Amino acid sequence: MSVSSVNQKPNASTPNALVKPIPAKPTPNTPAVTARTTATLNVNGKSYAITSSLDTPLLWVLRDELGLTGTKFGCGIELCGACTVLINGSPEKACDMSVSEVAGRSITTIEGLSPTRTHAVQRAWMDLQVPQCGYCQSGMILVAVALLQSTPNPTDAQIDSAMNNLCVCGTYQRVRAAVHKAALG
Ligand code: FES
Ligand code: FES
Repeated sequence: MSVSSVNQKPNASTPNALVKPIPAKPTPNTPAVTARTTATLNVNGKSYAITSSLDTPLLWVLRDELGLTGTKFGCGIELCGACTVLINGSPEKACDMSVSEVAGRSITTIEGLSPTRTHAVQRAWMDLQVPQCGYCQSGMILVAVALLQSTPNPTDAQIDSAMNNLCVCGTYQRVRAAVHKAALG
């Protein structure tokens, strides 16, 4: 090899082995399906290629694989409601739903309720300062959203019947007031 060829700079028409091609980024609704993909989940309006096994509880896929930590782990046995998400608009306990059960269905977490956190229920919750520690409140809010969709002007009894999530801080009275406030829009 001559000295001149060693010192020669690559130009636009010379392939440069040191420059690696930049892989195209997948768009939000076209997930990069790989050999490890086990399912595609629709979460908060976006499709995600999931690699967790099909029997993994949805709760851990949301938190550990997708980083959506607004959905909380409480009891793990379908009792407390801290893990509540909306599946096709209905409140469900994510700790007891497997990936295979929710594939192809529309999943909404607290992060997807409103891009600006100004859903009527969220505004009522903030106006009345409902949360104390806050741990149970993602689930509470999503149950309230579903309740108001099916029952736009619920009575106290209907609220108490629907809002059976556990709150160890005892925010039940403020939750009830906030549901009434959210019902007004
Ligand atoms: S963690 Fe799912 S109901 Fe308690
Ligand atoms: S606000 Fe603390 S558990 Fe409900």
